[in-house]
Amino acid sequence: MTDRLGFIGLGIMGRPMARNLLRAGYRLTVWNRSRPGIEALLAEGAQEATDARSVAEASAVVITMVGDSPDVEEVTLGPRGLIDGAHSGLVHIDMSTISPETTRRIAVRLAEAGIDMLDAPVSGGEQGAINGTLSIMAGGKAKVLERCRPVLEAMGKTIVHCGPHGSGQIVKLCNQVVVGLNNLALCEALVLAAKAGVQPQRMLEAVGAGAGNSWAIANLGPKMLERDFRPGFKVEHQQKDLRLALATAREQHLPLPGTALVHQLFAAVEADGLGSEGTQALVKALEKLGNLSVAAAAEK
Ligand SMILES: NC(=O)c1ccc[n+]([C@@H]2O[C@H](COP(=O)([O-])OP(=O)(O)OC[C@H]3O[C@@H](n4cnc5c(N)ncnc54)[C@H](OP(=O)(O)O)[C@@H]3O)[C@@H](O)[C@H]2O)c1
Repeated sequence: MTDRLGFIGLGIMGRPMARNLLRAGYRLTVWNRSRPGIEALLAEGAQEATDARSVAEASAVVITMVGDSPDVEEVTLGPRGLIDGAHSGLVHIDMSTISPETTRRIAVRLAEAGIDMLDAPVSGGEQGAINGTLSIMAGGKAKVLERCRPVLEAMGKTIVHCGPHGSGQIVKLCNQVVVGLNNLALCEALVLAAKAGVQPQRMLEAVGAGAGNSWAIANLGPKMLERDFRPGFKVEHQQKDLRLALATAREQHLPLPGTALVHQLFAAVEADGLGSEGTQALVKALEKLGNLSVAAAAEK
């Protein structure tokens, strides 16, 4: 039974992650709330279940990759949830980014039903999910992680045990603080180059080869110039993560001024109705503040 996996949540990230499990030879049972996510995987050999409970009944390990904390609660503890399919040896790995506190609460409820849980959120974006090179930040018991390591290795290149339940989510929030601030740094550099009369592409090329390089410079910068705002990572998900980071900091009486600023600038992007665009849409807020367009300054 150990080669039988379940996957719930087949969106931008879940679909390629599930595909990599199929390619690694696992038998996979999937469930998604809407159809489009499922069809492609069925064609590639996955079995379809009718709800999260049936996924659990058919699997030794069930992975969830949904949206926010209430979504994970719903598919695990809600009606026809994973908990109703509890059986000996079942493990739940939640790879969504959610609240560390909610993670701990779900882990306790699942443990009462005999289900071990790991929080294992990821970083690396859609391309990292496609390439199977995600960085995976795991929280929970070390021995459960070791049992599940081969499964995680089919989706990621780096797997770090961060500590007990919730620790993976805390490290992921740290990641999102860095990702958000790097994005803002990129936007500010782009508007400065454009306003001061330098081709933005030249700036990206030079800065990207030096100490200022970042994932944002390499991946989001070109999209900002090409006006490609299709989501790899949605603004609304980044806002969820920054909200969770700020809430976690508040519990610790810790100021995170940079994170709060990025959160407010993304609020301006959301106020323009752009929450389902990719996070590269942050440049639009900076362009409005500076009354310019980086694309207009870019080489055609
Ligand atoms: N995209 C990235 O670059 C990235 C990187 C790292 C981490 N993450 C995190 O990974 C998670 C998924 O992100 P994503 O970009 O793949 O999002 P997405 O494209 O919006 O996909 C979310 C998936 O979860 C399903 N879902 C959401 N709420 C549900 C619920 N209550 N019950 C059942 N299914 C539900 C959705 O079903 P429907 O199809 O019915 O909507 C969809 O299949 C999020 O926590 C995000 O923060 C994303």
